[in-house]
Amino acid sequence: TTFTRRALLKTTAAAGLAGIGAATLGRLAGFAAATPAPLILKTASIEARLMEGAPTKNVLTYGEAGPPPVVRMRKGEPFAAHLINGIDDPTTIHWHGIRVPNKMDGVPFLVQPYVYQGDNFDYAFTPPDAGTFWYHPHCNTLIQMGHGLTGVIVVENPNDPVFDLEMVVNLRDWRLGDDGQFIEPFRPRDAARTGTFGTVRTANWLDQPQFDAPAGGLVRLRAAITDVTRIYAFRVDGAEATVIALDGNPVPQRFAPDALQLGPGQRLELAIRMPDEEGAIVSLRDVRGTKPKILATLRSAGRSLKHDLRDLGPLEANPVPEVDLTSAKRIPLALSATAENVAADGICGSLGYSFWAINKVPWPGDTPDPTAPLAELKLGRSYIIDMANLTPHAHPIHLHGMSFKVLWSSTRAVQPLISDTYLIQPDEKVQLGFVADNPGDWLLHCHIIEHQKTGMTSYFRVV
Ligand code: C2O
Ligand code: CU
Repeated sequence: TTFTRRALLKTTAAAGLAGIGAATLGRLAGFAAATPAPLILKTASIEARLMEGAPTKNVLTYGEAGPPPVVRMRKGEPFAAHLINGIDDPTTIHWHGIRVPNKMDGVPFLVQPYVYQGDNFDYAFTPPDAGTFWYHPHCNTLIQMGHGLTGVIVVENPNDPVFDLEMVVNLRDWRLGDDGQFIEPFRPRDAARTGTFGTVRTANWLDQPQFDAPAGGLVRLRAAITDVTRIYAFRVDGAEATVIALDGNPVPQRFAPDALQLGPGQRLELAIRMPDEEGAIVSLRDVRGTKPKILATLRSAGRSLKHDLRDLGPLEANPVPEVDLTSAKRIPLALSATAENVAADGICGSLGYSFWAINKVPWPGDTPDPTAPLAELKLGRSYIIDMANLTPHAHPIHLHGMSFKVLWSSTRAVQPLISDTYLIQPDEKVQLGFVADNPGDWLLHCHIIEHQKTGMTSYFRVV
């Protein structure tokens, strides 16, 4: 492996990306193939202006100011991060969607110890897949993520087609009162339904940021839903746009994002062809629900480049092992509401309720003595999860450590997408195939954090 300064110092092309810097990259230590100097990720409590009026106190971030940095890695090259915990609450980092070794997965109790205030932890792994991913703590998640600890990861592939501009958008809400300060993080009756929504919506911690993009140019927009609750329905107005990747993997067939629904934890990659006219506005919208929202806008700038979306080459598929359908073993998995509310005892930011269950077992995922695994899987063997949503709510179900292929849905025609998070709709049944090629204990949970922490969590053991 050769490291080039050009690659490591490459910054996000968008000069207008307020508040989001390229990852701070350390100097290379030693010789080629050595682990690079780690990226320092230090948690901090700051003040930030998230709405008009007074700045919000007790906002959490990695770094000293502004949103967590966009972390850049390269497919197949070693990456290292040094977590320092600067806040008065134990934390960890989970690299959502990246197929890391189990010890690097950031789940307290199951795979690593808590990182207490003033302590640190070294993460090191080589991302096998290119795409858009994200990072967040796996401790006291409703508070830590709700207060700001959610950042986007870009794993670059040098063979990717070249775009005129790349934009990274971190989509999330905040539960703030009129005075701009945090209000109660959730309401139990909402946790038992869709989850409790934020009151202030942002992209990169801003309200409807606008970016300049070359007229007639091709933009690669990477959006990550890092909110703890909200499901989005995406549309692009004012330009031709096509979905090129979802959840870190290229889509087999590109399509227009016409109210495409994605849930917490999921990532959308779009190719957008900017209009030729200087000053034309393109908007990324969430059209779900009764109050459609403009999330971010792009403004055509300069003389038209006259590029064509159809000239855009394919993205390389990631080296995810192919599930063997003939030998695959089935794993039934039922998502349900609990019959009664058993107060759940956890210590990693327990919400104190149990509303949800996987295969009838509610587990908040935050107890030092985990429940039994859903199943013990044989290393290297193929499996098909037969997942049924027996609830009247949608759930973005996330599997750690391994990527699955969407094989079949009872309610819609699905592309054979490779993913780590599937948004299962009410009463839907779905089949997800994967090869159990990564040894260890791997969490599977709903990424609506209130659901996760009130019972909709379990895990597979791969041995
Ligand atoms: Cu995005 Cu268990 O995590
Ligand atoms: Cu859920």
